[in-house]
Amino acid sequence: MPETSAAASTPASLETPLARAAAVPVPDADALAGRFPLGPGTAAASDAERARALTDLHFGSVFTDHMAHARWTRGAGWAEHGVVAYGDLTLSPAAAVLHYGQEVFEGIKAYRHADGSIWTFRPRYNAARLNVSARRLALPELPEEDFVASLVDLVRADARWVPSGEGESLYLRPFVFASEPFLGVRPAGVVDYYVIASPSGAYFTHGLEPISIWVTQNYHRAGRGGTGFAKTGGNYASSLLPQGEAAAKGCDQVCFLDDVTERNLEELGGMNIMVVDDDGTVRTPHLTGTILEGSTRSAIIRLLTDAGRRVVEDTISLEGLLADIDSGRVREVFACGTAAVVVPLGRLTGEGFDVTIEGCAVTHEIHDRLIGIQYGAHEDPYGWMYRLA
Ligand code: COI
Repeated sequence: MPETSAAASTPASLETPLARAAAVPVPDADALAGRFPLGPGTAAASDAERARALTDLHFGSVFTDHMAHARWTRGAGWAEHGVVAYGDLTLSPAAAVLHYGQEVFEGIKAYRHADGSIWTFRPRYNAARLNVSARRLALPELPEEDFVASLVDLVRADARWVPSGEGESLYLRPFVFASEPFLGVRPAGVVDYYVIASPSGAYFTHGLEPISIWVTQNYHRAGRGGTGFAKTGGNYASSLLPQGEAAAKGCDQVCFLDDVTERNLEELGGMNIMVVDDDGTVRTPHLTGTILEGSTRSAIIRLLTDAGRRVVEDTISLEGLLADIDSGRVREVFACGTAAVVVPLGRLTGEGFDVTIEGCAVTHEIHDRLIGIQYGAHEDPYGWMYRLA
């Protein structure tokens, strides 16, 4: 008997430690500004250069004039906070990150609202998640308010780079890595934190068009006790070969199954996954420790719940999902993440199956609700939006 949504029991938790951390108020940007002071003599692109760079934006290939930086050393802690010119890093070839991958990162966006103000979304969520990831990778934690301050100071320095086109944003990429030159396998004693900023358009160039998914049965993204819940480069590096497998099969993205039963859906590698049933219930895989707890996932659970929908964390087996799509019990499947926002899955294929999914009404509804809040077109009843500038 295929496993179906009957296994759904737990109400989707809005009360994870990350969601609780995100709800702690952050001081106003004006109170945090200046913790990462703008260094002297940093050059800026001309208006013409910037205008050229902001034309026809894609994801993650254009960068602004500056970056935020701080350095941690064992014993002294975090120091050297500042906003410096964006540019290549000087790194010892023995830097531990290059050998052992001791690195974590975040993804968060700055949105320009119609009145010109610049906002971000739940920055404390990302601050707390960076530290969850850092703990797993034996990296030092960054005080959450310093994380937010680094966004404030960088975005204020590069405010002119925040695009205003539809679906455009300034994608912010905070990251922490082991820079100590040392080949022994132990936590590094010198660690750098940077935030770079990339004016970006949609992650998927075809916008809200449904994407196709290859479910790999050859690779797993993460294992129990591993780093699946952490946002660390190795998880993404290990997804590249299976992503190539997906591309070779003509698919946009790869979906991973759990490594224990090899039956249950986990995530797409850079996005969480949700399933909409014919009774309106929305199901998403349990946070088993092998899945990244997405900020977008968390916000969507709240939005759907407040819209009166039943949302459950579930064990979603591939076999059960295929049976439910076939019977019409599953109407929609969508992926969500900071970069990708919300995107419908229109095709699910793998060894021995190839199915299409027609529905996308709830997907569009939740996409519009979320971006409405993020871009300031809808009121934000949750206090999710934080004014940066
Ligand atoms: C994000 O959504 O911010 C990520 O880091 C995922 C990556 C696929 C861009």
